[in-house]
Amino acid sequence: MKNRRYALVRHTDKAPIMDCVEWRIEEAPSPGPGEVLTRTLLLSVDPANRGWMSSTPPSYMPGIGFGATVRSSSIDEVLASNHPDFKPGDLVEAMSGWQDYAVAPGHALRRIEPRGDLALELSLYGLSGLTAYVGLMDIGRPKPGETLFVSAAAGSVGTIVGQLAKAAGCRVVGSAGSDKKCRWLVDELGFDAAVNYKGEPLRKQLRAACPEGIDIYFDNTGGEALQAAVLLANERARIICCGVISRWTAENPDQGIKGIPGLIAMKSMLMQGFIVFDNLHRRKEAFGLLSRLVADNRLTVRSDIIDGLENAPQALAGLFAGENMGKRIIRVAEPGQRQVD
Ligand SMILES: NC(=O)c1ccc[n+]([C@@H]2O[C@H](COP(=O)([O-])OP(=O)(O)OC[C@H]3O[C@@H](n4cnc5c(N)ncnc54)[C@H](OP(=O)(O)O)[C@@H]3O)[C@@H](O)[C@H]2O)c1
Repeated sequence: MKNRRYALVRHTDKAPIMDCVEWRIEEAPSPGPGEVLTRTLLLSVDPANRGWMSSTPPSYMPGIGFGATVRSSSIDEVLASNHPDFKPGDLVEAMSGWQDYAVAPGHALRRIEPRGDLALELSLYGLSGLTAYVGLMDIGRPKPGETLFVSAAAGSVGTIVGQLAKAAGCRVVGSAGSDKKCRWLVDELGFDAAVNYKGEPLRKQLRAACPEGIDIYFDNTGGEALQAAVLLANERARIICCGVISRWTAENPDQGIKGIPGLIAMKSMLMQGFIVFDNLHRRKEAFGLLSRLVADNRLTVRSDIIDGLENAPQALAGLFAGENMGKRIIRVAEPGQRQVD
């Protein structure tokens, strides 16, 4: 059985993603004792993929070595198992990366019972849903009547954050990179306002959209949005540091934010980061609330699906270009699909 995979051959620091990977076709691996052979069905496309491909990967996980398969979380189907907890046909959450077949120890897999659409297991009931829940509930602590601002609002985490905050009674404002995304946030997802950060200066637009200031800022981007939020923040505002996607492609990524730490002290603000992987034990609590909101028609998610493993590099590059509305996913195979040689 042949395994198609993308191996990392160069760091993404300066080079386009497409130039950093090599398409290889090799024999599929075989499972050893305690191991499971899986077939990749869906791959999650995340900003973190690019970080792991750089020479300075985030500290919570090592970078990808040259020659190794590009890392990505996935939903897989079990094909063969030497582990008592798994049998062929089981669906599992895995870290198989950009390839057709992977072998993993049983303890690295988590069996899933899909709640309808399988793609939701990578978004709402996956790391995006958990990230939105933990960041907003633990650090943001939303209260009815407060104003929440979220950047990269039309993305996977941002759409869930905004709808969770609405359900908590907040006034919700998002920023996104096109008028089409902004209309979608307001018309379909129930945001109170949305601003296009590629239009007028963001701070000016936000001041108009948040007449009573900002109580909670869920920061997915860093940069200009963080600067605007710090300046417009109310006393005792909470800033949730989730990600810094704007810094990854910025010409001057080290440029700091004005007013820190002075404004943090003067406004008694809280600014705190978190990593979702430290909170995997919170899934049941998070997905309980998220699934109740879905059942009550108060939360919807959209999947942005790209077909074909071969399109993985373009799919990731497109995430940084803002192509996606909702959760970007690569569909590699269908469950139960016959194996090809
Ligand atoms: N702390 C954690 O454990 C954790 C876990 C998961 C994700 N994250 C972080 O959460 C953030 C959102 O992740 P996601 O998976 O939901 O991705 P996503 O929002 O689905 O996709 C990324 C979005 O970022 C926007 N973007 C790209 N370049 C930008 C720039 N220069 N300035 C402003 N926006 C830009 C694009 O939309 P536009 O059209 O709006 O530009 C794009 O759609 C990322 O920073 C990610 O690293 C953190």
